[in-house]
Amino acid sequence: MTKIVWSEAMSVGVPPLDSDHRIIIDLIGRLDDHGADLSEAINTLIAYTEYHFFREERVMAECGYPELEAHRQEHGTLADDVMALQRRYADGDDSVTAYALQQFLTEWLYHHILLEDMAYKPYAEHCARAHDAAKAFGKFRLEDLHPELVRDAETECA
Ligand SMILES: [Fe+2]
Repeated sequence: MTKIVWSEAMSVGVPPLDSDHRIIIDLIGRLDDHGADLSEAINTLIAYTEYHFFREERVMAECGYPELEAHRQEHGTLADDVMALQRRYADGDDSVTAYALQQFLTEWLYHHILLEDMAYKPYAEHCARAHDAAKAFGKFRLEDLHPELVRDAETECA
């Protein structure tokens, strides 16, 4: 499977959100580094993704993005799907592997960033309120959750 590599073409024009996307891509790419710790890796991914979704939704609200509700629903659907996969994994369903999760999440994220997220870019990119909201959103310390997952990925949210 081809892993996603973040590139400028995936920029949504709001640096903290780009930073989130890079971290999430990194977390997905390293799901298969963990073997027995897949459950924890999934938990970390869910926690970070939830944080990112809230921040992104706040940005969309600040810049008056008209499709916010539809976008929010798409986030909710993904969160539900991943939590269902997490439960299946916890229940011993061996079709839920790191590889299967990577494949599912990679396809979802690629599609989501390039189509759904790109649609808010024209609204958010030059909106000072949206940028301020993204920066002020709060602190998420990935390293508190899962220190070994932090390599050079850094959130720009101070
Ligand atoms: Fe999104």
